[in-house]
Amino acid sequence: MSMRLRRIDFGVRDVEAQAHFLREAFALVQEEDGAGGARFSAPGSVEPAVATLRPAPVDRVDAVAFAVESPDQVDRMHAHLADLDAGVVGGPGPTPEGGYGFELFDPEGHLLSIAAGTPTRTPPGPRRGNGVPMDLSHVVFNSGDIDGLSRWYCAALGFRITDWLEDKLVFMTTSRYHHQIALAASSDPGLNHVAFECADIDDFMRATGRTMRMGHEVLWGPGRHGPGDNAFAYFRSPAGFICEFTTELKVVDSPDWVASTWQSVPEQSDLWGTSNPRPNDAFRGVPDPGLGILPGSPEELELLVAR
Ligand SMILES: [Fe+2]
Repeated sequence: MSMRLRRIDFGVRDVEAQAHFLREAFALVQEEDGAGGARFSAPGSVEPAVATLRPAPVDRVDAVAFAVESPDQVDRMHAHLADLDAGVVGGPGPTPEGGYGFELFDPEGHLLSIAAGTPTRTPPGPRRGNGVPMDLSHVVFNSGDIDGLSRWYCAALGFRITDWLEDKLVFMTTSRYHHQIALAASSDPGLNHVAFECADIDDFMRATGRTMRMGHEVLWGPGRHGPGDNAFAYFRSPAGFICEFTTELKVVDSPDWVASTWQSVPEQSDLWGTSNPRPNDAFRGVPDPGLGILPGSPEELELLVAR
């Protein structure tokens, strides 16, 4: 069973600051949004948006959205999750976007959206040479229990583990790509980073260079990871979320693929030896106040009172 990673949704206190970063530094295409938020597309994606911003009382990840093939698959997944006593929010039923699906919380409170039949588009197609990311690539969560949580993702949602980085990172996918979701060991669950896929290595470097020239510090990179074999350059957005340019993520569609355990040493995390040392404190992240709380719910408003 394969799922397609569609979109990441954020709630942020300062929509324009975050929108400016995604639009100008990350070169995502800002689309119309009538609700005081912002929506961003990427020219290689069939999705009308690969990232959204919603005005919120706290900076948080609202949800990570996946597409499945059919309403039948939605129903089968929902029934399977109900049997597992997973954190299904409701449904399945019509989604606000016009699809059919449901939402669920993973055991650490990250909200996931599963849907079929949401509107798609014909992607405008590659625009190489401009450092414009083509699509959403992957999402990495910080987790207090990457062993247990990765087992949950496999059992509940059909992910398979493609690699480990010691006991610090586990990479998982339902698709042909090395990872759609990864989990990083941290005492503070939340977003570790979100990655956007560039068309090729030249565009990856153009994107990285543009963002540097705008005055944004490269948190880590540019370099090439061992696990996944993808190029990486990480930047911190105004709302504190780490965003990555990447390209050439490994395809692992062979049935013979066996997950291996990489060592957490510079020679394997940074194959080119071009990167600065990984700033571990930065990637530990900040606790996401929205874990386990539905976006826009009364419980979310209480977070504002509690601040
Ligand atoms: Fe990444």
